[in-house]
Amino acid sequence: MANDQEKEAAARASLRFVKDGQIVGLGTGSTAAYFIQLLGDAVKNGLHVRGIPTSVRSRQQAASLGIPLTTLDECQQIDVTVDGADEVDPELRLIKGGGGALLREKIVASATKQLVIVVDASKRVPVLGRFPLPVEVIKFAQAVVVKKIEALGAKVSLRQEADGNPYLTDEGNHLLDCRFEQIPDADSLARQLSDMPGIVEHGLFIGMANVVLVADGSELVELRREH
Ligand code: A5P
Repeated sequence: MANDQEKEAAARASLRFVKDGQIVGLGTGSTAAYFIQLLGDAVKNGLHVRGIPTSVRSRQQAASLGIPLTTLDECQQIDVTVDGADEVDPELRLIKGGGGALLREKIVASATKQLVIVVDASKRVPVLGRFPLPVEVIKFAQAVVVKKIEALGAKVSLRQEADGNPYLTDEGNHLLDCRFEQIPDADSLARQLSDMPGIVEHGLFIGMANVVLVADGSELVELRREH
């Protein structure tokens, strides 16, 4: 089964976690976009929810589908968030941010009771790190942060647009893509990055995902975090 079909299948399976009347976090990326599309269909069929998007892109998509939206200013507790991921390890630790939205994604996840991650089978890995870890950085600190992350063993590149200009996040920051190849101790790396002045947020999501739905061919695997 092609990746796109798996992404859609995982997104479809996540719909049963959304109940009438709930506040729903709307992830970012191609898999989350399938979820938003399906949620839009459900809203047209009478489901009442209010969505909190994790990016400008997802907000535009949800608004165009007629999904009622709210904000964290109005509502600080989200019942369920459905989002994608770039990598998932056996402990349900994630790398996120390939789509550039990790900061708002992590904030929304942190305010969410149940974080449901939807992925195709290619995202499951034994050890995180093959996918370059996105790190959102304040421009003023960029050169210093690059040096420090390189000293931790990564090859670091500044994410750029097709025209060569730096990619800007929805919050106006730069993104560093940090190629570690293997992150044997993700918990420790997450702490080190969180402690570095100038890093706004990094793409390691640890202890956040409650459920991961993996579409693998025609099979749907549901993984739950034990602790
Ligand atoms: C967005 O910033 C990311 O965290 C996405 O969730 C991640 O990149 C997965 O994207 P796809 O669903 O497009 O693979």
